Amino acid sequence: MRTQPIRPPLLSALAAGVATLLAPMLAAAQFTLAPLPYPADALEPHIDRTTMEIHHGRHHAAYVNNLNGQVKNFPDLANLSLEAMQGQISKFNTAVRNNGGGHYNHDLFWKLMAPAGQRGAPGEALAADIARTFGSLEDMKKRFDQAALGRFGSGWAWLIVTPDKKLAITSTPNQDNPLMDLPEITRGTPILGLDVWEHAYYLKYQNKRGEYATNWWNVVNWNEVTRRYDEAMK
Ligand SMILES: [Fe+2]
Repeated sequence: MRTQPIRPPLLSALAAGVATLLAPMLAAAQFTLAPLPYPADALEPHIDRTTMEIHHGRHHAAYVNNLNGQVKNFPDLANLSLEAMQGQISKFNTAVRNNGGGHYNHDLFWKLMAPAGQRGAPGEALAADIARTFGSLEDMKKRFDQAALGRFGSGWAWLIVTPDKKLAITSTPNQDNPLMDLPEITRGTPILGLDVWEHAYYLKYQNKRGEYATNWWNVVNWNEVTRRYDEAMK
């Protein structure tokens, strides 16, 4: 008497085929796209829902996917945290620099903004350091916006804590950031960063990068900036 297979052979073959196809994809999925920490419309009216959905769901997702595509070329990537990767980015290729940078920068960017009621204000030590370094919070914002507007093409403006524990404003091109071990980078720990790629603002602001930068201050998550400042100053 013939024994019945537990699953029909065709289904078994299909399941095995799917598993074979998925295995390398799952093994390579080292880096993942976290959900936005708030609803996509939480930053309106300053940053609109559609921009947030496309920025996170397509642009950031593409950086993550492209970075995962590089794990087969650089198995070392699999052992690195996203932050540690930035500090040794010179070991890798342009694709890792662009997509690893893109993943780190955007992961940070979402956390540096918050819905109304959760944004707070600069903490005491940070506020005092800003006043000491730049004159006032308004002066710091002006300097930061100059960096954002002065960045030709795509890139980021940053407020960093330098290795000698000073506040400084910098900007980087493309998806570079202040953690990268590259000779052209002014290095430090980013505590605030603004994405000035057109994909961050074009739908609502078109070419008006200055208006986007000015309005963006309304959604800055000072609680997170303060936390990062305190951590960097330890
Ligand atoms: Fe972006």
